[in-house]
Amino acid sequence: MLRAAICLLIVLLAAPLPAIERERLDVYRQRREALAAAHPDGVIVLLGYGEKESQSARSSFRQENNFYYLTGWNEPGAVLLLVPARAGHSDDAEQVGNDYREVLFLPRDNPSDERWNGPRAAPEDDGIAALSGVGEVRGAPELDSVVAAAARHRPRVYTLFPYQESHSLQPEVDRRERVQAVAGGLPLSNIRSQIERMRGIKSASEVRLIQKAVDASAAAHREAWTRVRPGAFEYELMAVMLQAITARGCLRPAYPLIIGSGPNSTALHYSTNTRRLAKGELVLIDVGGEYAHYAADITRTVPVDGRFTARQREIYNLVLDVQKKLIARLKPGMTLHGGGPNDLTEMAKKYFDELGRERAGQPMGEYFVHGVGHHVGLEVHDPADLSRPLEPGMVVTIEPGLYLPEENLGVRIEDMLLITPDGSRLLSRALPKDAAKIEHLMKIR
Ligand code: GLY
Ligand code: MN
Ligand code: MN
Repeated sequence: MLRAAICLLIVLLAAPLPAIERERLDVYRQRREALAAAHPDGVIVLLGYGEKESQSARSSFRQENNFYYLTGWNEPGAVLLLVPARAGHSDDAEQVGNDYREVLFLPRDNPSDERWNGPRAAPEDDGIAALSGVGEVRGAPELDSVVAAAARHRPRVYTLFPYQESHSLQPEVDRRERVQAVAGGLPLSNIRSQIERMRGIKSASEVRLIQKAVDASAAAHREAWTRVRPGAFEYELMAVMLQAITARGCLRPAYPLIIGSGPNSTALHYSTNTRRLAKGELVLIDVGGEYAHYAADITRTVPVDGRFTARQREIYNLVLDVQKKLIARLKPGMTLHGGGPNDLTEMAKKYFDELGRERAGQPMGEYFVHGVGHHVGLEVHDPADLSRPLEPGMVVTIEPGLYLPEENLGVRIEDMLLITPDGSRLLSRALPKDAAKIEHLMKIR
């Protein structure tokens, strides 16, 4: 008994553990099976990022999001092959090869690469199939022959084409040529929208990871509030927030930090963060960390002096009012954008016009210049059709704002919410937004 326990301990200590928290391996497997089952007429070939393809030279390796969603695999140079089951072919002379099959191809063991980058998994490692959770693991050089054999009865190769130009996301390198080389003469089809549709509905474990990103980010906002004062530089707040998210396990921010004081509060994605905060201004802080590849996206706007002026409070409370009204209406069936009677962006404009006219003497809708929210997940702006009606399991922001450049005054309040069967759950509730509560927390150091 004791010997068995010691053996188990040795095995556990010796097993290479993934550096980043992941979902359970069977969650990734279910996604792969569902995707394959929906594409029985072809094989699916997805290229993970290579060392140099990952985001930028300034960031550590980060896997391509769709590849990560299906595998949880965060090492460079991997390729995933999914071979859907072929139903109704059991009478074929050749009976092998009709079952669902999945193969992860990994670069071969490379000691000199490991000297530079640290240990990497290789196809010849003991226990590699269990570590990856993928049925079969093979060396990268076998890719062409395995794909050719698998595609014999499924003569089409599904893969990821780059984003459409119209998409607001960062442009991507076109890797179709590399896939075509593997596919030989077979036609390629784009599988992007099917994976992205799946990504729209978060699993319970994805929501838990997002919640960790949100909680770390909420703590960072609270810490920054205690450092806001006239004379401080925007980057001093940035330093405090980067420290706070990193100390909570976020390996990077989910997007460039936006810390805009005075006039900069009116520029939606200002992220230079070099200005000195001055008396009588607001500072808009839009900062979220990334935890285990999942993003948070939270904005608060606070007074540099620790107290809102009457005018600032008026605009602030108007934005807060509109945000609360929108959150009250958030539920399955509503849409973030795209027109129609359930469009929350249209509703936000209407609320600003109605409520703003009463209180500020002019229609305010024209100062609300962006969409009311977006999906969040592996990307801060998770790819999604914003006119798709909301469904339980989606995670979105609600972020109305008013930007008045002639007054150097911009206010945005941004929270993250999980859509539930009958409404929504506020994931960023740890971060207060009531004006008096913010003033109070700014004093506590
Ligand atoms: N942080 C970018 C956005 O709010 O959409
Ligand atoms: Mn946002
Ligand atoms: Mn934001």
